[in-house]
Amino acid sequence: MLILGIESSCDETGVALVDASGGHTPRLLGDALHSQIEMHRAYGGVVPELASRDHIRRVLPLTDAVLAQAGLPLSAVDAVAYTRGPGLAGALLVGSGVACALGFALGKPVIGVHHLEGHLLSPFLSADPPEFPFVALLVSGGHSQLMRVDGVGRYTLLGETIDDAAGEAFDKSAKLLGLGYPGGPALARLALQGDAQAYKFPRPLLHSGDLDFSFAGLKTAVLTQVKRLAHASLDGPATLHLADPLTPQQKADVAASVQAAIVEVLVKKSMAAVRQTGLRRLVVAGGVGANTLLREQLGAACAKAGIRVHYPELHLCTDNGAMIALAGGMRVQAGLVSLDLAAGADGNGYSFDVKPRWPLSELGPAVPVGAS
Ligand code: KG4
Ligand code: ZN
Repeated sequence: MLILGIESSCDETGVALVDASGGHTPRLLGDALHSQIEMHRAYGGVVPELASRDHIRRVLPLTDAVLAQAGLPLSAVDAVAYTRGPGLAGALLVGSGVACALGFALGKPVIGVHHLEGHLLSPFLSADPPEFPFVALLVSGGHSQLMRVDGVGRYTLLGETIDDAAGEAFDKSAKLLGLGYPGGPALARLALQGDAQAYKFPRPLLHSGDLDFSFAGLKTAVLTQVKRLAHASLDGPATLHLADPLTPQQKADVAASVQAAIVEVLVKKSMAAVRQTGLRRLVVAGGVGANTLLREQLGAACAKAGIRVHYPELHLCTDNGAMIALAGGMRVQAGLVSLDLAAGADGNGYSFDVKPRWPLSELGPAVPVGAS
């Protein structure tokens, strides 16, 4: 069963082809991505209308590239999966429109996929796939959640951020330091030169006893620290950016200290979730899962506690089409989605909608198709 996956929820156009036949572990046959980072960089963040227009330009050439990689014609595709939400409405509409048009032209079914489910299942494409059940730490630009995952579509929310996401904390701190967009990787790079003990930033909700996160206060603490350092050297020339008066070492120290604060909270809460559920596996997914310090510290904590930790391949941590094709394929394998054409796209023919806001908890527990 060959599933073509299309991701267009934000600033990456991703297309991929996954073989999800029978009981096999799904296999990636082709994968192509266009990142809009360069286009949005000039604006310091994603401009939704530009994102939508660029998805339109990229999605079909990327589809051709994926099929060429796999050495297969479009007619070999058995179903088209696309990101139905959450994300930017206009950007989502491009992927869903193209997916439904392709499905209609091919006479094949179309599957609307939840973006976070894609992230959550992405480690199943790695060389060391997890087994259910597991705890998942889902840390992206828009979400920070701990979930209990008992199977495809069987997700229980254990805790989540009450304000900013972990990725947002990276991005906003990076912006305060005058680093470009996207901030997470830039801040992590700068942190390599810094001293993580230099500044003591808060570890919000670390001892709250629950599994929720809060990262908004961290941004304020970084702002206060950057202002303090900038004022201390205000006898210099007038500057354009708040962080300009800081020495490169001060900037690196702030970066290392804030990264340490975010990572410590993520690691401690993940380990608490593992303890509370009694599960022995942890899956880390979403863009922040690419962070090296997070991987090192979670790896060490899990090794100590005898917990197996699984990550997606590094290139599948951030948004991509492979995870969408995979999630579509695994939903079919689990009997949650029918490939029966009469059911069409999500049971309503090839008419499509998108869900810019869509809590993952609304997905499950789903009733398998055919069950009563
Ligand atoms: O999952 P993702 O690609 O998109 C969303 O669905 O949001 O995550 C993007 C987020 C951004 O906030 C980005 O700064 C962060 O992931 N990120 C990182 C790293 N790579 C990406 N944060 C910290 N360290 C990284 N190496
Ligand atoms: Zn994402």
